[in-house]
Amino acid sequence: MKKITKICCIGAGYVGGPTMSVIALKCPEIQVTVVDLNEKRIAQWNDEDLDKLPIYEPGLKEIVAQTRGKNLFFSSDVDKGIDEAEMIFISVNTPTKTYGKGKGQAADLKNIELCARNIARVAKEDKIVVEKSTLPVRTAEALKSILDNTGKGVKFEILSNPEFLAEGTAIEDLLNADRVLIGGDETAAGQAAKDALSWVYEHWIPKDRVLQTNVWSSELSKLVANAFLAQRVSSINSISALCEKTDANVAEVSRAIGFDSRIGSKFLNSSVGFGGSCFQKDILNLVYIAKSFGLTEVADYWEQVIIMNDYQKRRFADNIVSTLYNTVSGKKIAFYGWAFKKDTNDTRESAAIYIADALLDEMAQVVVYDPKVKEETIYNDLDYLGTRSPEENRRLLKVVSDPMEAAEQSHAIAILTEWDEFKTYDWQKIHEIMLKPAFVFDGRRILENEKMEKLGFKFYKIGQSH
Ligand code: UDX
Ligand code: ADP
Repeated sequence: MKKITKICCIGAGYVGGPTMSVIALKCPEIQVTVVDLNEKRIAQWNDEDLDKLPIYEPGLKEIVAQTRGKNLFFSSDVDKGIDEAEMIFISVNTPTKTYGKGKGQAADLKNIELCARNIARVAKEDKIVVEKSTLPVRTAEALKSILDNTGKGVKFEILSNPEFLAEGTAIEDLLNADRVLIGGDETAAGQAAKDALSWVYEHWIPKDRVLQTNVWSSELSKLVANAFLAQRVSSINSISALCEKTDANVAEVSRAIGFDSRIGSKFLNSSVGFGGSCFQKDILNLVYIAKSFGLTEVADYWEQVIIMNDYQKRRFADNIVSTLYNTVSGKKIAFYGWAFKKDTNDTRESAAIYIADALLDEMAQVVVYDPKVKEETIYNDLDYLGTRSPEENRRLLKVVSDPMEAAEQSHAIAILTEWDEFKTYDWQKIHEIMLKPAFVFDGRRILENEKMEKLGFKFYKIGQSH
């Protein structure tokens, strides 16, 4: 079996960076080079100060410290990386299209195609190309068609190897993966490529957890896994709305149903709505594919997961407005958290963005504190929506680096990310410095009703009646 000695990964982002670091750590005999067109990002990966790595993941900097310069390299010389490697991972971003056919639903494959053309132009020897980005089903086929038409006689085997890492636990998910999925052609060459990639993972993942399938099953499984997870969140969030109208408590319902081993207890936390770069995008992809095959009922079924998520975000914002006596105009509202979940600085599709947007429409003065997200990111997120001018966003919304400053003289605090530190704050002190009545809207269910009410707060928690 072919033993890989040189790997190149195109795309030094949330997927490529951690994945390649772990491969380098576990496969010391393989040289791993991560390349990216973005020179600034590469410089950050090469920064001597490991706190300046472009992404934050618990455990990542320790691994980079051990491997960088030994068998892990970061470079902006994309062509050289491609030329030298026997196996090339593509982990570039594939955002939802913002233009043309499939706008707002289909994945934009521009970056993927550019990578394929780049590989085709540079490669002089046979290569295994691994799709790692989240892609619509049948992308491998498109890749193959671009690569096979280079006319240089170079042979390419395309594999699909979806990532299942969740942000904040990426390193843990990579080190102890539930499963690794490898899809490839059922030809002899396809099998050899699948075995070569399996061999890489088998350095640390037990053989029975490395699953080989055909390419389509692998590509589709990635979308389906995320769609099922997102569906669980939307399901419990739909029940949270019902709980708020009755005397049921959504946490008790989650616990009760989670004990059924067929349902299981994970991913049943009601929240202000799911975010992240994958859930919405993957479901939109699924919906788009179903529609393109004329499967309207299937498309509608999955689209409902997103409709429910949008409803949950809107409901949370509406509740703040109606509770604050039907107007938030000119009122200071503190946001605790902007990231789409704790332990990450990623804000893509974060519920906080949409809730801020809704409150700014009502002319609220929003003040954001997040322990990891930068001011620049927050403004970019809002500007991207295009609801109002960048000047207006900066006038209405402020970003602070001290939670107390955010709370000072505010009418309400909205908890939008479940950062652990929010639980340990001196809430009595916070109560003292807020305007009265002091409202707290807990969109992550991290604070206790009894304690908060005792301190004098008007406390609203998602999924419980008040
Ligand atoms: C997800 C998948 O879990 C991962 O396997 C895939 O590879 C990429 O997409 P990620 O987006 O990093 O990972 O985060 P995840 O932990 O799945 O959470 C997604 C969103 O759902 C977050 O906004 C989170 O707060 C929310 N969520 C999750 C809930 O609201 N309730 C839950 O019970 C679980
Ligand atoms: P993901 O979450 O999928 O990893 P990121 O946006 O974090 O997405 O990272 C994707 C990276 O891919 C970015 O750093 C971007 O500069 C890089 N990239 C996109 N297109 C190309 C390309 N054609 N060649 C090289 N790098 C690319």
